[in-house]
Amino acid sequence: MKSVDDFRLRLGSQELVPIIVGGMGVDISTSALSLEAARLGGIGHISDAMVPTVTDRRFNTKYVKNKLQQYKFNVENSDKSVVKFDLGLLAEATALHVGKTMEAKRGPGMIFINCMEKLTMNSPKETLRVRLKAALDAGIDGITLAAGLHLGSFALMEDHPRFRDAKLGIIVSSLRALQLFLKKSARTGRLPDYVVVEGPLAGGHLGFGMDWAQYDLATIMAEIRAWLQAEQLDIPLVAAGGVFTGSDAVGFRKWVQVPCRWLPASP
Ligand SMILES: Cc1cc2nc3c(=O)[nH]c(=O)nc-3n(C[C@H](O)[C@H](O)[C@H](O)COP(=O)(O)O)c2cc1C
Repeated sequence: MKSVDDFRLRLGSQELVPIIVGGMGVDISTSALSLEAARLGGIGHISDAMVPTVTDRRFNTKYVKNKLQQYKFNVENSDKSVVKFDLGLLAEATALHVGKTMEAKRGPGMIFINCMEKLTMNSPKETLRVRLKAALDAGIDGITLAAGLHLGSFALMEDHPRFRDAKLGIIVSSLRALQLFLKKSARTGRLPDYVVVEGPLAGGHLGFGMDWAQYDLATIMAEIRAWLQAEQLDIPLVAAGGVFTGSDAVGFRKWVQVPCRWLPASP
């Protein structure tokens, strides 16, 4: 009987343990968790959601306190349109969070950042560009473009010197979403290095409505695989959503993305 260890995730020239610890926002997928996944030869994610808050906690910076001070006059006002995100500070916080994590990396695995594209911070395109570029500047191994998938993300990074060497992946829940993304990014001449296919049983921010029960991961994977084959596109697929055991993972005969079933808590 096969076990997860009989499979390997091949990304370019690199062979990895076929388990990806998925990104979980606001520091649930901590730097420490991602480092452990990489140490063991798999892929760990950190998240780029609310990075200033996360760096305040990790490095005792004062991004949140300073911002509160700056906008104290508007605290009681439900109209927050005057509140601006300082993109320079956002880049600085991302450099710290990613840079320190990458400095601490040991072992044969990789560390990616999960970019929750849904977070618009009043200026969707500019904010996203800063977040993506800051992560690449700070040496992240790869970026997984997630919730709210922005179809123009590759174009936002294409002038970055690491655009073709960093691993770039996307999360989709349907063949249609994948087709739209590939069509929109075709101009950049770059395919995703991997595609995470997230079914309706996944935790987190899903691309399903109230009719979620009509879908299942195995069927969506099969549809996407058949289409990729027909188009002669060789992109690794990663199954996510409801993968609990090694046998579940082997059932997909592919690579899997899981969250952490046991979340670490500080005393
Ligand atoms: C608490 C929690 C937070 C999550 N946050 C994110 C996130 O910020 N971005 C994202 O792409 N996926 C997020 N996910 C999804 C996971 O990364 C993973 O793909 C998914 O949980 C796999 O499905 P499973 O939960 O059935 O194993 C989250 C999952 C959980 C349980």
